[in-house]
Amino acid sequence: MFLVNAKIARRLLRCRRTLCFSPPSGKASSSRLVLGIETSCDDTGAAVLDEKGAILGESLHSQKEVHLRTGGIIPTVAQQLHRENIERVVQEALERSSVTPGQLSAVATTVKPGLALSLGIGLEFSLRFVRQHNKPFIPIHHMEAHALTVRMLQPVAFPFLVLLISGGHSLLAVARGVDDFLLLGHTLDEAPGDTLDKVARRLSLIKHPQCSTLSGGQAIELLAKDGDRTRFPLTTPMGQTYDCCFSFAGLRNQITMTIMKQEAEEGVKQGTLLTCVNDIAAATQHTIATHLAKRTHRAILFCKAKGLLQSNSPTLVVSGGVASNQYIRKALTLITEMTGLHLLCPPAKFCTDNGVMIAWNGVERLREGKGILPPNVDVCYEPKAPLGVDISAEVKAAAIRLPSVRMKIPN
Ligand code: KG4
Ligand code: ZN
Repeated sequence: MFLVNAKIARRLLRCRRTLCFSPPSGKASSSRLVLGIETSCDDTGAAVLDEKGAILGESLHSQKEVHLRTGGIIPTVAQQLHRENIERVVQEALERSSVTPGQLSAVATTVKPGLALSLGIGLEFSLRFVRQHNKPFIPIHHMEAHALTVRMLQPVAFPFLVLLISGGHSLLAVARGVDDFLLLGHTLDEAPGDTLDKVARRLSLIKHPQCSTLSGGQAIELLAKDGDRTRFPLTTPMGQTYDCCFSFAGLRNQITMTIMKQEAEEGVKQGTLLTCVNDIAAATQHTIATHLAKRTHRAILFCKAKGLLQSNSPTLVVSGGVASNQYIRKALTLITEMTGLHLLCPPAKFCTDNGVMIAWNGVERLREGKGILPPNVDVCYEPKAPLGVDISAEVKAAAIRLPSVRMKIPN
């Protein structure tokens, strides 16, 4: 929970009533307007949305290139870059939308989970902004925002199953409402995007002419297209654990061993581009896709057994940076077609971090009057914050065995 004392909670209730019933002013007379701000990791994002989800203006500053050069995110560097860019990014989003701060109905900002130093910059800026312009503040959970972005693009009724896969997260959850989630499984170690980024670094893909500006995940997807996924057999993680949790650290170890063996065979040192990078990329991508598909398959069977999804139109939403991977999408399509679920993936632009998804979560909360705080509230950021109610132990206890599925994923 956000740290709000009793006095503030009373004010919050008063503020909520005002927000629900006061006639909006200015441009907001036809629609309420929300400014969303995102700084949880390495993207400084801002966007202004109206109540229907129309994007009136947005701006995004990505730190990807800097972090690619330094070989990973250094939190103090990320913090400094957010600090240097946040004012301009917010200003740009407002200018592009032709909305003045006075016309906003609320400001929504990511406050959890994420890198402490990065979250701090967005939160500090936002609290100053809402106090200066006397606007309500809506703290946002980054993963809830990823999960609900799809509803901005098309009507998707609760409840639905969601797989969130990014550089920082890997989880399966049932979205039952704007602030109501059941967590079925999560990663036990690292996230798939993190694994892809580390494998890409270990392979020195930054030296590859086609990959020098790509994230690890993008580089591996590109190289895998011309690779043979069967040349380096890798074991899919957690084959004997019948739950919906994920693990990628052991797989990364298998890949590192493979790389070391190949370096020895080719007689080259670490840091040299191997001739077999395409095949290693293909094997890595295939094994990650298979692991994600299997855990998702079990989550679907669990949800069906417990009646947790819509019976007429059960849906799987996949989001987060790794969800833009077409091969992983195809692996998940195999599973959803077999189990009769609709598969929805927002376009890549909305899968990765941005201000739009935060503003949209603010709109959803504003509509329902949930989690709206007065301008002078004290809110702390939370680097670690689970999503919803964790029922992963119940999923594990159900020990659902999967029917055997041939993961024949077209390249
Ligand atoms: O959601 P996101 O923008 O940031 C967070 O981690 O929250 O995701 C970034 C991650 C990176 O690890 C990147 O390598 C991965 O998403 N990624 C991809 C692809 N594009 C980005 N992974 C696989 N295939 C892609 N096409
Ligand atoms: Zn994210």
